[in-house]
Amino acid sequence: MKLDVVLIIIVAIIFGIGLDGYHCKMVQFIFGDSLSDVGNNKYLSKSLAQASLPWYGIDLGNGLPNGRFCNGRTVADIIGDNMGLPRPPAFLDPSLSEDDILENGVNYASGGGGILNETGSYFIQRFSLYKQIELFQGTQELIRSKIGKEEAEKFFQGARYVVALGSNDFINNYLMPLYSDSWTFNDETFIDYLVGTLQEQLKLLHSLGARQLMVFGLGPMGCIPLQRVLTTSGNCQERTNKLAISFNKASSKVVNDLGKQLPNSSYRFGDAYDVVNNVISNPSEFGFENADSPCCSFGKIRPALTCIPASTLCKDRSKYVFWDEYHPSDKANELIANELIKKFGFKRVDQTEAPSPSPTPDA
Ligand SMILES: *[C@@H]1O[C@H](CO)[C@@H](O)[C@H](O)[C@H]1NC(C)=O
Ligand SMILES: *[C@@H]1O[C@H](CO)[C@@H](O)[C@H](O)[C@H]1NC(C)=O
Repeated sequence: MKLDVVLIIIVAIIFGIGLDGYHCKMVQFIFGDSLSDVGNNKYLSKSLAQASLPWYGIDLGNGLPNGRFCNGRTVADIIGDNMGLPRPPAFLDPSLSEDDILENGVNYASGGGGILNETGSYFIQRFSLYKQIELFQGTQELIRSKIGKEEAEKFFQGARYVVALGSNDFINNYLMPLYSDSWTFNDETFIDYLVGTLQEQLKLLHSLGARQLMVFGLGPMGCIPLQRVLTTSGNCQERTNKLAISFNKASSKVVNDLGKQLPNSSYRFGDAYDVVNNVISNPSEFGFENADSPCCSFGKIRPALTCIPASTLCKDRSKYVFWDEYHPSDKANELIANELIKKFGFKRVDQTEAPSPSPTPDA
């Protein structure tokens, strides 16, 4: 009998199960742009990238603007919900406490932000990925002083990390003559520079404790309404789409290589480029009626910067692929999320058990 108890304790120690009854919940830390922002820009009062007016948020909760650049849920919302993980609050939410962080994680995503510091500068205020990682380091300090160094390390190593940026580095940087990157680089050298920067950032996150991390690739961003309006034919911008494909290819290699090199890490890359492209060329097959114009739009004066209170809404929001000039609708996000869930092979996290401390490498 005694021996059994000893054995159980040894097994428990080996598998890192806390015997003192203390165990941290598995939460998410989200790094991203407007596709994942859940309210940070709302508190960046000088930022021009805002979703703080109707009709943003119309299909979520009380229907009032909540900071999401969408009528409903983000892709990260839907994936997290599917995995049984809590939705992390915005970093700048004034009510965010250490207890909230331990319960729900944090979302640092910021509309207009990019992998590169210089991206989106004309929005005046936004968190670039380096800035978001800096804020995450501040969060780590806070949690260490709350629960101690060792428990904090376990907490951060057990968490899930989402990194979803890149479209602004093209749309609001490289493809705009306003930015020096557009004349400093060509397509190939820019992607090398961009993906090289991402690689350093992902290594930095690993050094800070990130072990289970997923990177979302880009969709056919040449087909967002804003890009289509720029062509005389109203078709997708082929060059922009090619850049997205090249970015996905290069960053997928970097992420998979890092997953093999970095100790105890499960780093994965996934994109929904093909599915979204299929929806755009054949909307009715997927239950959509419109795949080229925004549901919320300011009539003939397109492209209006954002969806505004004076805009008119489409009749059925679930039938539009795009919510505004830049962003997919809730329904399209659901389709993207389902594709990523399939590609990543996610399963529901059972929060009643201790989270696995060491992810299976390269699973
Ligand atoms: C990017 O910005 C961060 C601050 O957020 C700074 O620490 C870093 O040096 C910058 N990197 C480059 C390459 O400018
Ligand atoms: C990897 O996991 C093992 C066993 O859990 C641990 O001893 C080691 O310190 C970990 N390495 C890193 C770099 O986290």
